Amino acid sequence: MIFEYAPAPESREVVDIRPSYGLFINGEFVDGSGTPFKTVNPASEETLAEVATATEADVDRAVQAARKAFGVWSALPGSERAKYLFRIARIIQERARELAVLESLDNGKPIKESRDVDLPLVAAHFFYYAGWADKLQYAGYGTTPLGVAGQVIPWNFPLLMLAWKIAPALACGNTVVLKPAETTPLTALLFAEICQQADLPPGVVNIVTGAGDTGAAVVGHPDVDKVAFTGSTEVGRLIARAVAGTTKKVTLELGGKAANIVFDDAAIDQAVEGIVTGIFFNQGHVCCAGSRLLVQESVAEELLSSLKRRLSTLRLGDPLDKNTDIGAINSAAQLAKIRELSEAGEAEGASRWSPACALPEKGFWFPPTVFTGVSQSHRIAREEIFGPVLSVLTFRTPAEAVEKANNTPYGLSAGVWTEKASRMLWMANRLRAGVVWSNTFNKFDPTSPFGGYKESGYGREGGRHGLEAYLKEIS
Ligand code: NAI
Ligand code: MG
Repeated sequence: MIFEYAPAPESREVVDIRPSYGLFINGEFVDGSGTPFKTVNPASEETLAEVATATEADVDRAVQAARKAFGVWSALPGSERAKYLFRIARIIQERARELAVLESLDNGKPIKESRDVDLPLVAAHFFYYAGWADKLQYAGYGTTPLGVAGQVIPWNFPLLMLAWKIAPALACGNTVVLKPAETTPLTALLFAEICQQADLPPGVVNIVTGAGDTGAAVVGHPDVDKVAFTGSTEVGRLIARAVAGTTKKVTLELGGKAANIVFDDAAIDQAVEGIVTGIFFNQGHVCCAGSRLLVQESVAEELLSSLKRRLSTLRLGDPLDKNTDIGAINSAAQLAKIRELSEAGEAEGASRWSPACALPEKGFWFPPTVFTGVSQSHRIAREEIFGPVLSVLTFRTPAEAVEKANNTPYGLSAGVWTEKASRMLWMANRLRAGVVWSNTFNKFDPTSPFGGYKESGYGREGGRHGLEAYLKEIS
């Protein structure tokens, strides 16, 4: 008997997308002064909406609104601020389906990820920091908010990065001006509506849309007290330069080139699942993606054949299909970068493999790809690809694994697969990475701090540590 594949598409009717969007300043949607831009569905290249561009003058209006609101918001008792954050968290849960569909449409990620990973984590972040709002005196970082936070976020987890930025800022009594990425502004604008629905005082959250110039205006505004950025190391450097010599506090969450390290005693099938989650989750558009597989030589052959078998079962296609494992690449620019680096991998002598996988005709797509025979000097072993591309290297001893894992300018995360707890601890103590996962990968929780070493940035987000970036001690 032959079974035909039956798609299981989620309905896009659950979300109303307006033809055009303004900026969200002082609790209202207002026109932007710049030339509006279009945001597209990367799975179909269809235009979803036209979105306003905030100029320097618009950003100034948003910062002024946030400054004015800071007086009111920071004067509220923590328990009152918590009520708003709990309310926002509950509305996010109530409207989760709508937000998940919108996220998948604008970003290209599979609905099963936006529905089962992004949205639950977004709500969890607001719940978690709501809980801190009236307990700041126990956190150990003082109880005084900084003022206005200027926050710039990327396109890989649009709503989740918004939550990571806004929830702790508001819990601590700051107000915010946030700029979403230009390819994924829509869930931030729906979040603005949720702020209205929650009766959040006007000006506490302001959303300004636009590209890099708008981001630079947010970061460079003289009345911003705190800058929080997630994105490329290149722009992170520009931002560090822009705020140098000012009193602005900064956190930067930048790129990564994580090692996923598999020892010969690891449970191979579990490790294979962890490798798949590590690099193919969210099309590999993950700063902490396990983009370098370091496998102990004695099990390399067995592991690679299992991995290839598993990759052949992944389903690539319509992000709104509930069975889809791999969605669309977020933009033509990102696709070009992935292609360029993959071609460099071949040119430098690594062997490239992908499962048989038909790519849709429209939209931006890249098949799951594995490079073997990779050496440390190859660009695909050193540079962040930010796509569904895995580079495989081998090692013989734990010391060699540590040496290779740390041989990178980055230091965001790492994974270790072994049955021996003593070896796990030995490795974790030597890996220069902000997060080390033990027999798992890409696990997130609002209670757990996240952040990098070296060129992966500085500061921690999440957990009690995440409060530090938004508070000061008064002397
Ligand atoms: P990007 O760093 O340019 O974009 C991130 C955000 O920064 C966007 O909102 C963008 O509008 C804004 N931005 C751009 N220039 C700015 C400036 N001068 N001042 C202030 N804000 C500015 O990253 P892009 O070009 O989208 O991606 C390039 C590469 O960066 C990716 O291929 C990937 O390797 C890495 N990346 C890392 C991310 C992470 O989570 N750490 C997220 C996104 C990209
Ligand atoms: Mg888009």
